[in-house]
Amino acid sequence: MKINNVDIIISAVSKKQYPIHDLPEILLLGRSNVGKSSFINTIINRRALARTSSQPGKTRTINFYNVEDIFCFVDMPGYGYAKVSKAARQEFKFMIDEYVHLRDNLLMVIQLIDFRHKPTEDDINVNNWLQELGITPLIVATKIDKVKNNDYRKNIKQIMDSLKIEDAKDLILFSATSKRGKEELMQILDEVLLE
Ligand code: GTP
Ligand code: MG
Repeated sequence: MKINNVDIIISAVSKKQYPIHDLPEILLLGRSNVGKSSFINTIINRRALARTSSQPGKTRTINFYNVEDIFCFVDMPGYGYAKVSKAARQEFKFMIDEYVHLRDNLLMVIQLIDFRHKPTEDDINVNNWLQELGITPLIVATKIDKVKNNDYRKNIKQIMDSLKIEDAKDLILFSATSKRGKEELMQILDEVLLE
């Protein structure tokens, strides 16, 4: 798939505003600041269509991006960042819950984990919650450009152990800065969407 045309359809805060269409949707989930919006920009070849910030809590709505009329990326607020107010965190949690439970268009969840750190308790809880709903998310480790090569093995093992990933192939290493992992993800999208 070549991606040239992407439009934002709507920024929604509740189910009434979800777009009505038949496109399959790929949801980005992860802690605030992990790089969800940056991930979308990298994959769609746009520098700043999805708004990013060094401050956690930037994305506050559910943003639907129509990619080539083939699928939709759904960018969400993040979870679990202490610097985001408790009220906002509760609101974001409600939005994530509602979308995941109700959305028939949902084809795939990509859960982003910061490669620099051990998965947090929230990362593990969200992963378990998805599994209980019968959803096995694709795990993408972000910000790998910030990790020294010497630490790669240790950090990969940390994520695989915490999230019970058995095959290293199921953990994608990604950087929005160096674009490493982009080709691998494009291949996965092709497999999932164009089979
Ligand atoms: P919220 O919308 O707050 O939930 O955050 P988000 O998950 O959408 O994160 P966002 O894409 O806004 O990125 C947060 C910060 O991390 C920004 O300053 C990005 O430039 C930076 N960032 C994201 N991905 C990478 C990466 O792969 N490498 C590096 N070095 N920085 C990154
Ligand atoms: Mg964001």
